[in-house]
Amino acid sequence: MNKIKNFLSVLDLTEEEIYSIFERASYFKKNRLNNSNKPLTDKKIGMIFEKSSTRTRVSFEVGIIELGGSPLFMSSRDMQLGRGEPVKDTARVLARYLDGVIIRTFGQDRIKEFADFFEKPVINGLTDMYHPAQILADLFTVYEIKNDIKEIKVVYLGDPNNMSNSWINLQAIMGFKLVLAIPEGFKVNKNVADNSKKYGGSFEIIHNKLIASEDADVVTTDVFISMGQDNDDIKIQKLKPYIIDKPVIDSAKRDVILLHCLPAHRGEEISEEVFESFSKNIFDEAENRLHVQKAIMEKIFV
Ligand code: CP
Ligand code: NVA
Repeated sequence: MNKIKNFLSVLDLTEEEIYSIFERASYFKKNRLNNSNKPLTDKKIGMIFEKSSTRTRVSFEVGIIELGGSPLFMSSRDMQLGRGEPVKDTARVLARYLDGVIIRTFGQDRIKEFADFFEKPVINGLTDMYHPAQILADLFTVYEIKNDIKEIKVVYLGDPNNMSNSWINLQAIMGFKLVLAIPEGFKVNKNVADNSKKYGGSFEIIHNKLIASEDADVVTTDVFISMGQDNDDIKIQKLKPYIIDKPVIDSAKRDVILLHCLPAHRGEEISEEVFESFSKNIFDEAENRLHVQKAIMEKIFV
């Protein structure tokens, strides 16, 4: 087992480390164009993507370049990995060429296996289980607006997936109030819930979305069908009532922040009206991927 510092889930970081990432992200945001600090100089960073991406790919790639490193984007479609070459062989080969890797893949076991054999740092760019870089950018977006994130109430509506799992992890480390508004019969992954308890975290599940959203500081959602899942009409019908619409916003605090990791399906998990009236929050959140990930890479790859 290697002792390399990876970022495979939020649980790989402490509260103190997350605050220090936020401070560095603020610095990178303020000094984007006049930053002579190039901590990734001479570093070759691989980016293995087994699923589609717009934001994650571009924000990491731009971030690596701005930090002085060289990104190498690899779609698994074009790699022997996509033709069945074992993860552990791919990892051991790439370790001979690269200084670090960002991976977007399916199972958490796949990224974990890669990290075990790569023996250099690995960052999770989304798995079926987690999206940790995204969730730090989300909380940073809130942190820029609110002084005290310990006191906030975050409400996640919709499908229990890699985004809600990441909120659960983040709550366990950072200690805000978290409510999930999910349909009856939908379950949170048991390992994620158990880990939350182990780390002293807690969250509430409330099936009525208007009660769940009462006095919320942050309201957020994600697509009903994630990448790698089959389009399931029955699932979509069950999730439909959990759309973020005006009644949800009216139930939340007047200065509620609305987050969406994107891409969004208007009319499914969020109404067009709500999406457009909170577009500032949503696109600030997308921009913050860049600044926060630069801070994450400085911590993990240097
Ligand atoms: N939010 C997010 O990860 O977007 P992409 O799938 O476009 O990378
Ligand atoms: N839950 C979504 C997030 C996309 C950024 C998915 O995994 O497809």
